[in-house]
Amino acid sequence: MVKKIVRRKPADKKVPAIKTKSRNSEAQCFFTVRDSVKVVQGRVGQKANQRVKFIADALVRHLHAFIKETRPTMDEWMQGIGFLTRTGHLSNDWRQEFILLSDVLGVSMLVETLNHQKTSGETESTVLGPFYVKNAPQYPNGANICLDGKGEAVLVRGRVTNARGKPIAGALLEIWQANEDGFYDVQQKGTQPDMNLRGVFTSDEDGKYSFRTAYPRHYPIPYDGSVGDLLKALDRNPNRPAHMHFMVSAEGHETLVTHIFTPDCPWLRDDAVFGVKESLIADFRIVDDQQRAADLGLPNPFREVEWNVVLAAT
Ligand code: BEZ
Ligand code: FE
Repeated sequence: MVKKIVRRKPADKKVPAIKTKSRNSEAQCFFTVRDSVKVVQGRVGQKANQRVKFIADALVRHLHAFIKETRPTMDEWMQGIGFLTRTGHLSNDWRQEFILLSDVLGVSMLVETLNHQKTSGETESTVLGPFYVKNAPQYPNGANICLDGKGEAVLVRGRVTNARGKPIAGALLEIWQANEDGFYDVQQKGTQPDMNLRGVFTSDEDGKYSFRTAYPRHYPIPYDGSVGDLLKALDRNPNRPAHMHFMVSAEGHETLVTHIFTPDCPWLRDDAVFGVKESLIADFRIVDDQQRAADLGLPNPFREVEWNVVLAAT
C-alpha cells in the first residue's frame, strides 16, 4: 500500500519564510540579549498611540539597560516582583504606597519640578504629600487653626501677588500641617480634634492673608510598608523636615502646591522625599512683645513668619 503524503499549507501566508542563516538582524522577531530592546520595540503596531509608544520605547530601553547592568538572579527578580506586589496591595484610596515609592526615589520631585519651572520669581512648588484633605474649614484671616493647643504659637502672614507684584484678592490658601507630636489629624482620628491644623483662608483686597498656628515639627513618612523596608535596607532616614503645606489657587493663575520649612530643623538637609528647595526655607523669628501677643491672642513670646506668595499666570 502506498502512503498518501499530506502536504500542510502554511497557516498564514503572511508569515515570512524562515531563513536558516538569518542572524535576527532584519525581522528582529526572536529574542536575544543583544537585540532585546529592538525585539520588544519591534512589536509596536502601526496604530499605536504615539505618546504611549514614545514612553514605552524609552521605558523598555531603560529597563533593559538596568537589567543588563544589575543582572538580578532569579531570586532577586522574584523579590523585586514581590516588592511591587506588596506596594500595590498596600495602596488604596487613603494610602498610596506607589506615590510614596516615587517620593523616596526622588521621582515625584523631578516630575513636579520639571512641570513647574519658575522663571519670573514665582513661588516654587514642592510635593503634595498624602495628607491633603478637600473641604477643610474656611476661616476669616487671623483665625487659629491649632485646635489641640499643642506647640509653640506662630503667626503666619503675607500677601499673594502676581509676578509683577500686583496683589491678588480672593486667592484661596489651603493650609495643613502635622501637630507637635508629628502626626496629621487624619493619622490620629479620635486622638486629635478633626481638622486640627487645617484651614482655608482668603486673601483680602490687598492680597493679604494671616492665620495663627503651631510651630511645625518633623515627622516620619509612613514607613511600616514596602517603602519603609526599602529605606531600612538602604540605611535611609524616613523623616521629613518640619513644614507647613500651602495650596494656593486664584482665578487666572496656576494653582501652587508648596510648603514652607522651618530653618532650624535637624532634618532640613535630609528630607526623605527631597521636597526642600532653598527658597522655601522661611524665617520664623521669635517675637517678644507682650502687647502684640495680647492683641493677637497669643502667648508671649511667639513666632512670626512673613510668607509672600507669588502666583504664575495661566
Ligand atoms: C507630607 O509632607 O505630608 C508627605 C510628603 C510625601 C510623602 C509623605 C508625606
Ligand atoms: Fe507634610
